[in-house]
Amino acid sequence: MYRDLKKILITKEEIDKRIKELAAELDKDYAGKRPLMVAILKGSVMFYADLLRAMTIPLELDFMCISSYGNKTKSSGEIKLIKDLDFSIEGRHLVIVEDIVDSGYTLSYLKRMLYSRHPESVKICTLLDKFECRETPLQPDYKGFDIGNEFVVGYGLDYAEKYRNLPEIGILKEEIYS
Ligand code: PRP
Repeated sequence: MYRDLKKILITKEEIDKRIKELAAELDKDYAGKRPLMVAILKGSVMFYADLLRAMTIPLELDFMCISSYGNKTKSSGEIKLIKDLDFSIEGRHLVIVEDIVDSGYTLSYLKRMLYSRHPESVKICTLLDKFECRETPLQPDYKGFDIGNEFVVGYGLDYAEKYRNLPEIGILKEEIYS
């Protein structure tokens, strides 16, 4: 898999260090609130597992699978819901855990949908923020790293379902996806 990378953008050590900082921030902000930590499958799995293990407050887990259509490098804004939450979220504090925010369409849609179920709060925690590519006003509440407009894979992120199990985040060579 490493042969397909132009370079490693974020090392495992850098990811670990930043996750500890984010976990400490969440611990402080959600003390006494028993947040419902919602993983958006599949890209967030590695980040979610490491982030939650680094948190020390009581919390609960739930999972959603929401996807833009097809295997492509850019979101269209068309979204499909593949798996919904298991539990009612009325009155709950939700933290949506994502791997990347790009155009912002996915999370804008998701936030609207979740707020219609009357939670107490919905915040977004993303590992990566591709802010240059934003096409909506959406801003994450917690973020690991800002990145440029490059095609990144690894640590949960894929291209056509490959590279999710790389421990680092790398930039994919253009010839792989063009
Ligand atoms: C990725 C990512 C976000 C979305 C962000 O998911 O996990 O959900 O794209 O893009 P946007 O801000 O432009 O809407 P993807 O559809 O690739 O599914 P995956 O998590 O299963 O890889």
